[in-house]
Amino acid sequence: MKYLPLVLVIALVSAVIYQVTQRSEADPESPNKPALSEAAVEPEVPDPEATEEPDPEAGVATTEPTEAPKVPEGEVVPPPPTHNYYSTGEKSRDGTGKYYQGREISYVMGHPAINWLERPERESEEAPTKAMDLLDLEENDVLADIGAGSGYYSLRIAMQHPKSKVIGVDIQKEMIEFLDQRTTQLGLENITTHLGKIDTIDLPSESINAALMVDAYHEFSHPFEMMTSIAKALRPGGRVFLLEYRAEDPTVPIKPLHKMTQAQAKKEMALVGLKWEKTLNDLPWQHFMVFRKP
Ligand SMILES: C[S@@+](CC[C@H](N)C(=O)[O-])C[C@H]1O[C@@H](n2cnc3c(N)ncnc32)[C@H](O)[C@@H]1O
Repeated sequence: MKYLPLVLVIALVSAVIYQVTQRSEADPESPNKPALSEAAVEPEVPDPEATEEPDPEAGVATTEPTEAPKVPEGEVVPPPPTHNYYSTGEKSRDGTGKYYQGREISYVMGHPAINWLERPERESEEAPTKAMDLLDLEENDVLADIGAGSGYYSLRIAMQHPKSKVIGVDIQKEMIEFLDQRTTQLGLENITTHLGKIDTIDLPSESINAALMVDAYHEFSHPFEMMTSIAKALRPGGRVFLLEYRAEDPTVPIKPLHKMTQAQAKKEMALVGLKWEKTLNDLPWQHFMVFRKP
């Protein structure tokens, strides 16, 4: 009798344990609630009462319109461009209103400005002789002077490096004619001219060692395409010499859109795979930046 309560407790606990084990092994049809772990892995049974088909793309992010836009009959719709590098924005006084990488492209300097390019005081203002010394060209190098204008640089480089070849490239035929005349007058045989296009220098692949652009790049209407064609025309290891008026320096007396910052130039050259190598700060008004094709 002394142990009766203990016996009753043991009997009660055994009965409860038996009930619980019976429930967990129950048939799925059993009205008994399943244990939580089982419910989580149980496949969902489709509701036969459901009227709508489930959307297979529900929850999938897409930029495609679900329906093709309606085109009026007979109208020709050009395919969308694969990539547009440019945008249109506010047009400033010297600008085109066309923007590339956050900068407004300037207008092209017309051939009536040849006198300005050839001005005698250019040497004291911009030190072009010093700039040409910094090019450190080697014998047999082929240099394209892109946006050559009157040929101020092309002619002097050709005279300074008689064993190298200079190609003067410009999009204005008046500039090319002026440069051709001067070449003949000076009797230079290591210089040729080439009428380029606004979006390509149109020279064969890997045909040049160096590309020089003096105060020209900022006015290319298609900088991405131009630089792509220049990078293609360069031999591996070839260099780009980019001379632009320093936009960081307010004392350089040139209109803002004809200047460029180093950061901007580096960003734009990197886009076509050119590696910045160095910037020489020896010139009074311009950055002398060197990039290389890997
Ligand atoms: C400000 S001038 C500089 C001329 C020369 N580099 C100098 O320093 O004496 C710029 C020249 O770039 C030329 N130009 C502009 N866009 C060009 C392009 N896409 N390809 C070749 N030349 C271009 C213009 O016709 C103009 O003669």
